[in-house]
Amino acid sequence: MLSAPSPFSFILFGASGHLAKLKLYPAFYVLALKKRLPENYSIVGFARSDMDDESFRALVEESIREHMPAVTEAALTDFLTHVYYHQGQYDEVKDYTALDTKLTALEKGWKDPVRLAYLSIPPSVFTNVTENLCKGGVHDHKKNGDFRCVVEKPVGNNLQSAEDIYKKLQNCFGPEEIYLLDHYLGKEAVRNVYYLRYANPLLERVFKNTLIHHVEITASEPGGLEGRAGYFEHTGTFRDMHQSHLLMIASLLTMRLETDDSFGASRLNALEQFYLPPATDLNDVVIQGQYEGYSKEDGVAKDSRTNTYVALKLMSRTSRWQGIPFYLRSGKRLDKKETRISIAFQEPRKIGKGSFPNRLDIILQGEAGLKLHLQTKLGGTEPEFRPLIMEDPLVCVGDCLPEHGLLLLEAIHGKQQWYLSFEEVQTSWRLMDPVQAHLDKPDTSLAIYKEGSTGPKESDEWIGRDRTAWF
Ligand code: BG6
Repeated sequence: MLSAPSPFSFILFGASGHLAKLKLYPAFYVLALKKRLPENYSIVGFARSDMDDESFRALVEESIREHMPAVTEAALTDFLTHVYYHQGQYDEVKDYTALDTKLTALEKGWKDPVRLAYLSIPPSVFTNVTENLCKGGVHDHKKNGDFRCVVEKPVGNNLQSAEDIYKKLQNCFGPEEIYLLDHYLGKEAVRNVYYLRYANPLLERVFKNTLIHHVEITASEPGGLEGRAGYFEHTGTFRDMHQSHLLMIASLLTMRLETDDSFGASRLNALEQFYLPPATDLNDVVIQGQYEGYSKEDGVAKDSRTNTYVALKLMSRTSRWQGIPFYLRSGKRLDKKETRISIAFQEPRKIGKGSFPNRLDIILQGEAGLKLHLQTKLGGTEPEFRPLIMEDPLVCVGDCLPEHGLLLLEAIHGKQQWYLSFEEVQTSWRLMDPVQAHLDKPDTSLAIYKEGSTGPKESDEWIGRDRTAWF
């Protein structure tokens, strides 16, 4: 079982943000509850707001209570004694020097503490924070042991800005200190996409273009902006979901099965093999939508053209997947929470009524499950069929940790396998940038859809042009 081997200080930039409240504090609480944290550790929130340790602890406690179904009081009380706040301006070196002094005091007597700076901050303050972590002495691994800088996706909002950000990171940190986080890669169900293939040669035998018709990867969410208009308005669903989460799922599905050493290279290679199908009109490759009430949300421009739904068609050059369309779709304010891979096999021989193509659904989130759709014969002299679904609730069994908890433990250990490489970030922006440029054009249509629906009807028509339908 993975636990933090050494004392650590976790410095969180963006301490009062949505992600911290929703995911990070609950994840740390679970690690504390499951006794995965060492005796000596501290979690220090850094932000501009006027708070002290007590009021910050109250904020952390409230987020844990809100997002956990139940809490164990003793574990929570103990966890909160490790939480501190440091008020500072992102652009003031002296506030980082003071932070270093505070950390050094907290780390007194600890053996080889690891420092982790977690950046969950807007791009506008990114440069200040990375520079000042160095200038202010917070990153001084000779003095303090190892250092990790964990950066939440998306890294930048196009290839150019991602490269600029990475240069800034490199000015201060070595490659072994930079951890680019996509939380989907911390989800057991997402990692399992690779391991299902690895452990089941049977699946690998049928995952090939002579048998598969197409692949659908859908991530639907009933939720909307949840107070994040400032971020989302400039990002949209395409950059928010396709650029990293959906492409990573697709890469895990198509990568060569490798031993640990070349795992990273193989995942990158799979990503590099994706391309936009040749089309004279990019509208054949991508379609975007926006939910009806979006422009009335707080913080959203009345004439906003930000997409909240996108479906994209890709192809892979990998020999076993060559020629198979991959449809990647995601949207907000849809009918349900579900992240699903559906692998549709080719048409069976038609020998009677009711024979449909086989299909394998790997449902990663929502009502998680593995479903193999087969046909079975109805009684009678004629061959007639009814659907048969073999299914298993594909839920995590064993040592299951929240995605951020698992990734953070791995970062403390110095394990980078389930973090993005910068080459992956570059590759995905390279693929996405021309599509984003197309979506940004004022004359590219933006289909309006009803909240709680499965998305715009135009998206059904769009995939219908390929004689396919969404599952
Ligand atoms: C985040 C996006 O990366 O992933 C959010 O910024 C999205 O907009 C979220 O809601 C979905 O994550 P999960 O873990 O709920 O599927």
